[in-house]
Amino acid sequence: MKVFMFAASLRHGSYNKKLIRVAAESVMALPFCEVELHEFNEFPLPMYDADLESTEGIPVGALSLGKMISDADAVIISSPEYNGSIPGTFKNAIDWLSRIKPVPLSKKQILLIGASPGHLGGVRGNLHARVPLHILGSYVYPEYFGLAKADQAFDQNDQIKDEKQFEKLQTLLTDFIHYASRKETPFERLTEFVDEKLHERHN
Ligand SMILES: Cc1cc2nc3c(=O)[nH]c(=O)nc-3n(C[C@H](O)[C@H](O)[C@H](O)COP(=O)(O)O)c2cc1C
Repeated sequence: MKVFMFAASLRHGSYNKKLIRVAAESVMALPFCEVELHEFNEFPLPMYDADLESTEGIPVGALSLGKMISDADAVIISSPEYNGSIPGTFKNAIDWLSRIKPVPLSKKQILLIGASPGHLGGVRGNLHARVPLHILGSYVYPEYFGLAKADQAFDQNDQIKDEKQFEKLQTLLTDFIHYASRKETPFERLTEFVDEKLHERHN
């Protein structure tokens, strides 16, 4: 399965970029997983402006990000927490993505993780990130991994120093991939069948 991964931080020395790289190495090691690891900086986005959208359309950065998401079977995002909530840059990206039809985030398996120099590992920010993703119909995995005290958490090779934390992350990634790979189960086909029938009824 194809797994698209990025950190929702633009900062060069970002702890979330370090965390997503560690996570990507773990996912790459799993059987049947093909990882697409990208940087948020590759998808430059202006602040959402309906006038800009109506005159110039959806920016290339949003279209490229949307394509990466659409092409993936699962998405893993490591996001910082800003003022106890989702960073504006990440929310802005979600807002632009919501203007693409069909919405790339809809019915997409998503795992949120995060890193912060604080004690809570960015959990509050990622709880808020769930709200717009839920509204857009993403399947956000219920569990979360937050790397607290991220400024001291990595060694000189950018690996997670604490073995227990690393194992916790690996377990979560494996559980998520196992869960997300079930999308071709009869249950998913049943959901698609019901969606098609409803679509036929309304058209
Ligand atoms: C505007 C702003 C607000 C922040 N608010 C929080 C916060 O509420 N909780 C927290 O743990 N860290 C907060 N931080 C600190 C970030 O966690 C820290 O800058 C972190 O390094 C950002 O992630 P990154 O390293 O991936 O860029 C804030 C930082 C900024 C710039």
